[in-house]
Amino acid sequence: MADTYKAVEVSAPGTLRVVRRSISEPGAGQVRMRVEACGVCHTDAATVTGSYPGLSLPRVPGHEVVGRIEALGAGVNRWKIGQRVGVGFFGGEDGVCEPCRRGDIVNCQNPVVPGITVDGGYAEVMIAEARGIASIPDELTSVEAAPLLCAGITTYNALRNAGLRGGDLVAVQGIGGLGHLGVQFARHMGFRTVAIGRGPGKNKLAQDLGAHLYIDTAVEDVAAALQRLGGARAILATAPSGNAMGPLVSGLAARGKLIVVGVPEDQIQLSAFPLVFGGRSIYGSLTGTAIDNEDTLAFSVLQNIRPMIEAAPLEQAAAAYGRMMDGKARFRMVLVTGQ
Ligand SMILES: NC(=O)c1ccc[n+]([C@@H]2O[C@H](COP(=O)([O-])OP(=O)(O)OC[C@H]3O[C@@H](n4cnc5c(N)ncnc54)[C@H](OP(=O)(O)O)[C@@H]3O)[C@@H](O)[C@H]2O)c1
Ligand SMILES: [Zn+2]
Ligand SMILES: [Zn+2]
Repeated sequence: MADTYKAVEVSAPGTLRVVRRSISEPGAGQVRMRVEACGVCHTDAATVTGSYPGLSLPRVPGHEVVGRIEALGAGVNRWKIGQRVGVGFFGGEDGVCEPCRRGDIVNCQNPVVPGITVDGGYAEVMIAEARGIASIPDELTSVEAAPLLCAGITTYNALRNAGLRGGDLVAVQGIGGLGHLGVQFARHMGFRTVAIGRGPGKNKLAQDLGAHLYIDTAVEDVAAALQRLGGARAILATAPSGNAMGPLVSGLAARGKLIVVGVPEDQIQLSAFPLVFGGRSIYGSLTGTAIDNEDTLAFSVLQNIRPMIEAAPLEQAAAAYGRMMDGKARFRMVLVTGQ
């Protein structure tokens, strides 16, 4: 086996380049994966631009990674060489901070995050913490599974933890990598599902994904349109636009929830009126843990949910990233390696 591997690293802000690196052995509690597929998430922008707090370059982005285990570090008993596994944004907890000690490991204050605190999956090889990996079911190919490990888990977990009931009106704003999976999860969880986009371009796609209705914010007042339907019990906001999120609160039913999963650079401006009069709320939701990822994959198999993807070879990571940032991906770019 070669003692080097190909990776795509951010060498300086804005520059993705193909490099060769030396293969190292996994440390205690770690596994080394031979990567087969890695999705390109909008959050990768925080690595590519170098803007993530505390990030140091060079860094290999990528946190929707599927591969096969090829080496086990000391003390790793649960996983086997050759097993297909994946890792998402949550790559492992420190186990000692206050959220961890309260069992809330997804909110660990010092987490391992592939592509940010450690090198991620834009590579032929990646080292992951064994406690952060999920088993991949045979029913899913690696390219299908990869986007489920961040875009999938983030929308699935946010929806399943929102205290909703079958038949509730649920809207998903922003029909991109996260949103196109959010629409499918909402529909298959039994919600009356509304997709919210800007422009007519995604109307048919949203309905193909299972949306009962599409609201085009370019021509309709989104809050009024939702109120005509009775008001949403929840709106999952995935678009990276604070400006577009604020007005959504007025589209909620009494006690409805705006769940923020997109991380816009601009501020979210809110009126207090719909929050106070009607007891509406707004909160954020961050990805999920390794076992949540196994739940996401299992639900996707159960309900025949698949991401809509465009595959590209690892070497074309920069172009794939550009296509995602330009909003052209339908709906997830996935880098494929070793094929
Ligand atoms: N909470 C978490 O754990 C978590 C996990 C993963 C990602 N994220 C964040 O979630 C956001 C989305 O990520 P992604 O990978 O899904 O990005 P993406 O694939 O680029 O999709 C974003 C979508 O938002 C749409 N959009 C942008 N502005 C809009 C607006 N004003 N109204 C309606 N739609 C709008 C874009 O559509 P058009 O441009 O075609 O209109 C695009 O399809 C990012 O901020 C990312 O950092 C958070
Ligand atoms: Zn992500
Ligand atoms: Zn912690």
